[in-house]
Amino acid sequence: LRTSLKVHTSLHTSAGTNVVAAREEGARKDVTDEKDGHKSLYALQAERQGQAERSVLISYHSRINEKKFLKYLSRHGDINKYFFYESYGIYAVVEFGSRDSVASLLEETAIPSVNHEAMVPFKSRLLSLKNLGSADSPNQQSGPQCQPQTTVPINQLIQTLSKEGSIDQQVTSLTEAYQLTEENSRLRFLVCSLLKDIAAAYFPECTVRPFGSSVNGFGKLGCDLDMILDLDGISGRKTKMFMHQQIPDLIFADMPKQEPEFLTVQVDAASLLTFNSTVHLIPRSGLSLEYQLKRANSERSATQSILSVIGECVDQFGPGCVGVQKILNARCPLLRFAHQPSGFQCDLTANNRVAIKSTELLYLYGELDPRVRHLVFTVRCWARTHGITSSIPGAWISNFSLTVMVLFFLQRRSPPIIPTLDHLKDLAGPADKSVIEGNDCTFVSDFSKIQLESNTETLEQLLHEFFEFYATFPFSKMSINIRKGKEQNKPEVAPLHIQNPFEISLNVSKNVNATQLERFVALCQESSWLLQQSETSTPREPLFNCTTHGCLIGAWHRITSNQSLRASATVVVCTFFFSLDSREATSIQHQPDQAP
Ligand code: CTP
Ligand code: MG
Repeated sequence: LRTSLKVHTSLHTSAGTNVVAAREEGARKDVTDEKDGHKSLYALQAERQGQAERSVLISYHSRINEKKFLKYLSRHGDINKYFFYESYGIYAVVEFGSRDSVASLLEETAIPSVNHEAMVPFKSRLLSLKNLGSADSPNQQSGPQCQPQTTVPINQLIQTLSKEGSIDQQVTSLTEAYQLTEENSRLRFLVCSLLKDIAAAYFPECTVRPFGSSVNGFGKLGCDLDMILDLDGISGRKTKMFMHQQIPDLIFADMPKQEPEFLTVQVDAASLLTFNSTVHLIPRSGLSLEYQLKRANSERSATQSILSVIGECVDQFGPGCVGVQKILNARCPLLRFAHQPSGFQCDLTANNRVAIKSTELLYLYGELDPRVRHLVFTVRCWARTHGITSSIPGAWISNFSLTVMVLFFLQRRSPPIIPTLDHLKDLAGPADKSVIEGNDCTFVSDFSKIQLESNTETLEQLLHEFFEFYATFPFSKMSINIRKGKEQNKPEVAPLHIQNPFEISLNVSKNVNATQLERFVALCQESSWLLQQSETSTPREPLFNCTTHGCLIGAWHRITSNQSLRASATVVVCTFFFSLDSREATSIQHQPDQAP
């Protein structure tokens, strides 16, 4: 208790000195925590948020000399990191060593003067670089080296995968090619930070944090950016009043000699379960002040009002934010818009704490065993290629549902590759306790407490078994349940029932219709059969040297093991594994006897 208070105590003496102030965020978890070689999601997020707040996003001209640009900026302070990328023009992300440098840079930044148009003079950290001097030397005209922010072009991926010697290597290689890069992750946090600056006009203490696949370890380059406007950090929110006599002795460990007149002690909810909340001590005088606040009918309607106003602000004042839609009547109200400079499709929600927990859970599962992420990436990719998933909302299976299906499958292996959620809950310590709107979201955060069983199955085996598992799963009667790690009787009539891990009365895949489920099952059957063909062909035919990529999910198996297909003049492989979305839809014309 005392140790915890050393960090959490915020003491205002009669002289008004703030002796120790710690952000609740840091107090909840040790942000430097790195156990068993795994960085906690809190640690990762805190690091990325810090970087984002010290960063600016600058629209750049390729003709400008890079060195000159950096020299110009470094007049404001040391630059920690910078990179360039392309999205409707070239942009530079520049992270300074301190926020003072950003302030100094903004101080010097001008508001453009335009004669014929009116501008909203909203200052943000999205800037444009102007070159008022002479043009740079011709050898600079090639422009800076840009970091890719989208998946590699399809042909390039095929080339990469076709050099791999096995399905296991291909799966690994596919994950590496698709997963978010360091730069893309930084850019995601920077966009959150820019959004925070807009929302901060109303709520200066708010935070905007990413969730979902941007941070759970399963994000593919180009995936949407899910964000939460977090108002929980607003000081004084969620407080309970206690007379300090009720906690004798508690608060005096690190106090200055003189008796404080007014005392605020913020106590970590988890480590002080007795109080179960942030504690606010009533001053000795017995008086205190409260803010007068507008009341809303419900938490939901408060969230809708806040998002509506922020949506207006983003739409009218937010540089680079276009196509703002307010989707306020959804189960989870949200704002949807495109952030043009980053190229991200953004969804901003508020008061969505359960989603943060499910992001943490997915992150934890992904960190437990590398096969988890590999399999999720591959299955998602396979599903997208076959049109089982789509970027457009509809009656199809979502990526989130697919991920939960992969996790469930891995829990059902013998021995299991990952533990059940109930087991993770049993391992939880007091600091992990979390109940959100009546939903128990408790699970262990300390990776070192989790003992894994020794399952040695290869990725190829697992991929095959995954298809086999769902090709024969009793969807009509049973529900997928990662909490129990065992299928349960379906509580309601829905073609596909996947219990939400935390809001257990909800079906994650409520949107899925019977046709879509049937397509999924049929494709699982086909893919399972195709993989089986490759396993049983003896001697195992090395697929065309340059087409090993085809063995990954299938069509090439059929092509190369079937004489009549092989003999056909031209094999047209289209919408196969790699035509991942409509932008990339490619048809590959391939003469069977030639390397593509
Ligand atoms: N979520 C949920 N229940 C759902 C849908 C989503 O709890 N029915 C939560 C999950 O935490 C999910 C997050 O909202 O990760 C974001 O949803 P979504 O963008 O649909 O999925 P992602 O996991 O981000 O995957 P994608 O790459 O397709 O965006
Ligand atoms: Mg998402």
